[in-house]
Amino acid sequence: MSEHAGKTVFITGGTSGINLGIAKGFVREGAKVAVIGRDPERAANAEAEIKAECKTAKTSGGDALGFSCDVRDYNAVEAALARVAEAFGTIDVLVAGAAGNFYAPLLGMSANAFRTVVDIDLFGTFNAFRASYPFLTKPGASLIAISAGQADRASAMQAHACAAKAGVNQLTKVCAVEWGPAGVRANIISPGGIADTVGVKFLSKDPAQFDEAIGRIPSKRLGTVDEIADMAKFLSSDAARYVNGQVIYVDGGLYAGDAST
Ligand code: HXC
Repeated sequence: MSEHAGKTVFITGGTSGINLGIAKGFVREGAKVAVIGRDPERAANAEAEIKAECKTAKTSGGDALGFSCDVRDYNAVEAALARVAEAFGTIDVLVAGAAGNFYAPLLGMSANAFRTVVDIDLFGTFNAFRASYPFLTKPGASLIAISAGQADRASAMQAHACAAKAGVNQLTKVCAVEWGPAGVRANIISPGGIADTVGVKFLSKDPAQFDEAIGRIPSKRLGTVDEIADMAKFLSSDAARYVNGQVIYVDGGLYAGDAST
């Protein structure tokens, strides 16, 4: 039986993309997974999809709950955490994955546009982590923030996401430092380009730009959603019990260097 069987996993932005993949990864191991997102219809569909995944699971006991909640609203996030803890038990794994993005130059970005992404990415992570504390399994809970290479490397057209993700990394490290003594670990996954996600769809529109981007990745391919889910499972496993406050790059080596010739 998987060590994740019976665990309660709460995932913000878990109704689509990488975060939905993480939800499926945990439920296949028998975890009880709650996903929240802004759109109620998408949340209901995600719940159904994750429940369907339980049928192919290695371990029985998996369950899913999906409902709408905007991570920008602290009280709503707190209520969502309370609802999940009531339904499934104290939270063992919290993945803060909700993110928003669009490409715009600084001069094409209003203050409200900048604030919108910072609100979703950075305040959304703060709200989830801060509100979760009373509901966490202590000791033993694992917090995971989904960040991006933009936290470290400035990218044109991404002022909002660069600023927000840099904040997400530091915020998560502070959680590691302040809550480590209570047996709560907090780490950051920094994914590279992941196939079939919104981020990569922008690139796929221009084949030349797409090929050039793949050429820069040392592993010479995009990552998969399952590869991010595997890292989330590792970080919340006993094997990672001494891993705390770390940024883990799951990017085929791109952060280490550029493999274009
Ligand atoms: C300039 C833009 C814009 C654009 C929106 N705005 N799109 N400005 N160029 N392309 C401006 C609006 O004009 C407005 O400012 C402000 O941003 C808020 O826009 P709203 O549409 O009112 O906000 P909202 O409905 O909350 O939508 C949030 C969103 C949207 C982020 C703007 O794109 C969204 O919901 N996207 C879906 C989620 C998403 O993007 N997922 C991708 C995650 S992938 P004004 O001044 O007019 O009021 C990801 C990986 C990235 O994050 C990895 C790198 C970090």
